[in-house]
Amino acid sequence: MSKTWDAVIIGGGAAGLFCAGVAGQLGKKVLVLDHAEVLGEKIRISGGGRCNFTNLHSSPANFLSLNPHFVKSALARYSSQDFIKLVQTYRIAYHEKHQGQLFCDDSAKQIIDMLMGECAKGKVQIRHPVVINAISHEAGEWLIQTDGGVEHSRSVVMATGGLPVPAIGATAFSLDIAKQYGLRVIDPRPALVPLSFTSGEFENLNALAGLSLPVRIAAGSKGDRYGACRFHEDLLLTHKGLSGPAVLQASSYWAEGEAIHIDWLGAVEANGQFNCDDLFNHEDNRLKLTENILASVMPLRLAKAFAEQKNLLGRKWAEVSKKDRQALKELITNWSVKPAGTLGWKKAEVMLGGVDTKELDGQTMMSRKHPGLYFIGECVDVTGHLGGHNFQWAWASGFACAQAI
Ligand code: FDA
Repeated sequence: MSKTWDAVIIGGGAAGLFCAGVAGQLGKKVLVLDHAEVLGEKIRISGGGRCNFTNLHSSPANFLSLNPHFVKSALARYSSQDFIKLVQTYRIAYHEKHQGQLFCDDSAKQIIDMLMGECAKGKVQIRHPVVINAISHEAGEWLIQTDGGVEHSRSVVMATGGLPVPAIGATAFSLDIAKQYGLRVIDPRPALVPLSFTSGEFENLNALAGLSLPVRIAAGSKGDRYGACRFHEDLLLTHKGLSGPAVLQASSYWAEGEAIHIDWLGAVEANGQFNCDDLFNHEDNRLKLTENILASVMPLRLAKAFAEQKNLLGRKWAEVSKKDRQALKELITNWSVKPAGTLGWKKAEVMLGGVDTKELDGQTMMSRKHPGLYFIGECVDVTGHLGGHNFQWAWASGFACAQAI
């Protein structure tokens, strides 16, 4: 007689391993199946190898979803503080980098080892690499057909993540299973991803690749899928387009064909370091060259590029007409540009869209139509801002599910 598991978890990444450890320690018989040779690869490469494992300020406002209320229950039941306590139990040294973002001092591998340690405590069985051929529901139990035989289980947890970085084994398997069972899937698209440009406006700035500076960025609009956003973050100019935290954040809200808006002085102005009107109207500036005035608040190379675009390079400020000053100010404080696209799944950190949250119970992550079928982590239509929020969703959704399976 074959063994019946309480839960078979498909995908041993952040959400799957965490859920397995919690459920196992609650006394449940759990099997994790993964097709990868090595588990936790996304965790290993995350945060530049140091894993930004959560954010001190993680709240529902940090997530995009067609139903923004969906995350509330899970995040309330398992907060960033809860995960920090676990990290402390394992004596993993960490530090806060920026706006509540917590990183390991040493290596992301410590988080993988911690998750494996939690699974071991819960006597979780982990099998990989294994190919999962089919999932079906027969005579009140779930059957998981693998290349190593059939597993029987009371429940199945889909935790195969999103589509970014196909080179390390990302697949649409959870989305395919959702569709197989008639669950609606919101079209996936790459997010937290650099934006590329083909417009002439950008070509002028191409020589500036490598420059990084704080900006205010805005993208999306009220009527868009996930609404509008505004961030004060660093922007990085690259050979292919724009990147850096500001652009990655904006990319989640950007829709094809739309412009993004950059105020190159907005972030310094917001910090109260200077007033933009003073810069453009100050009498002391009369004898200075246009680019040198701008260079007091941005890198000289960029200042020159902006002055050049308005034919003001090398011109004394006193010689610049009011109209030209206004045009320059408009260019710098409301630089609108239409990205040609994103750099795609290879460079995206996370997936927008996924299993529609209307199909799931927010307390348990279980399908409303198919009891015993769960979806957790990135495969669900919940996408965090940059800064540790995506891992916090993996932990919180995994925790909610573990209580229910
Ligand atoms: P995850 O991708 O972790 O795990 C999915 C698992 O399913 C994998 O083990 C995979 O092998 C397996 N799988 C896939 N298809 C399968 C199939 N058909 N059969 C069997 N198994 C299958 N987030 C954050 O909060 N802080 C950060 O610092 C970063 N940094 C970062 C950097 C980079 C480069 C990327 C690409 C992403 C990040 N992220 C991040 C995002 C974060 O990594 C991501 O949101 C979580 O890993 C999602 O956890 P999941 O468990 O849902 O998927």
